[in-house]
Amino acid sequence: MAAKERVVVTGGAGFIGSHITDMLVEKGYEVLVIDDLSSGKKENINPKAKFTQVDIASPALLPVLKKFLPHYIIHEAAQISVSRSVRLPLEDARINITGALNLLDCAARNKVKKFIFASSGGTVYGGRAKCPANEFSPLDPDSPYGISKAVMEWYLRFYLTEYGLRYTALRYSNVYGPRQDPHGEAGVVAIFCRKLLSGETCVINGDGKYIRDYVYCKDVARANLLALKSAATGGFNIGTGIATDVNQLYSKINKVLGVKTKPKYGPHRAGDIRKSLLDWGKAKKVLGWEPLTGIDVGIGETAEFFKSERN
Ligand SMILES: NC(=O)c1ccc[n+]([C@@H]2O[C@H](COP(=O)([O-])OP(=O)(O)OC[C@H]3O[C@@H](n4cnc5c(N)ncnc54)[C@H](O)[C@@H]3O)[C@@H](O)[C@H]2O)c1
Repeated sequence: MAAKERVVVTGGAGFIGSHITDMLVEKGYEVLVIDDLSSGKKENINPKAKFTQVDIASPALLPVLKKFLPHYIIHEAAQISVSRSVRLPLEDARINITGALNLLDCAARNKVKKFIFASSGGTVYGGRAKCPANEFSPLDPDSPYGISKAVMEWYLRFYLTEYGLRYTALRYSNVYGPRQDPHGEAGVVAIFCRKLLSGETCVINGDGKYIRDYVYCKDVARANLLALKSAATGGFNIGTGIATDVNQLYSKINKVLGVKTKPKYGPHRAGDIRKSLLDWGKAKKVLGWEPLTGIDVGIGETAEFFKSERN
């Protein structure tokens, strides 16, 4: 039997990374999950994957990679909250820039074939971008989180030019689905599901008319597997292009859970832009990717997951 190709998934104990790991294992790859478990959970890690608990910013990372010798790295580990990055920009930069750069440098030293980076289409283009944004829109972020993602895309380009390390930056829109952390500051679908199931009042920041592009986690995982095998480098939007505002999202989740509740409205959150939609035409043309899960089906599956977690 041919030796399996080896893939490191950082953040594989978290939401998106665990779905990517599941898909890789299912396709026959040998997977090493690297995660510091700062927000991720051991029970999210596929039992057929190996696991090492390490901080991506630590010098302890290099020996871990030297031992496993990955062919590919999929980098999902991050500080993921825009509002936390506004409050704590140094912490955000330590994980999302220094940590990511440490990993990228280790990848170059270990002759990794390709580096896939979880970028953020919802924040790298910023609030002044044309809507839906395409990959010709300039990177013009409004928050430290968006800045860190844009900076890493420039480092990726540098490592490609200087060391020939091929990369794909997948610029996700708002990802939702089972296993998203419902206690965090990001991930509105998970937060609303948890609160509504436990009878708590949901708070909508601002007027609820903030428009977002919600893409399902399994569609995002599939984009990562396609990017792994594609010869293409550069940035790709991964979204649906479909506009849903927070008020509409709130009603949809109420409907799926069979409740009729009223939210409370709170202040606008610093760093949140009013409208964000992504044009995913390039991903379709070059990677052969498209979003396959409609929002009603995706919310249904997410609600089922949180219901069964509660039971
Ligand atoms: N969820 C979204 O809507 C969305 C949108 C755009 C981009 N992204 C990006 O996708 C990636 C995955 O996001 P997610 O929603 O699955 O988040 P998540 O918080 O569920 O997963 C992140 C994982 O990284 C781990 N981690 C954090 N800091 C670490 C460190 N220093 N060293 C090692 N591990 C560390 C956490 O323990 C966690 O398991 C992130 O890079 C995020 O910025 C997410």
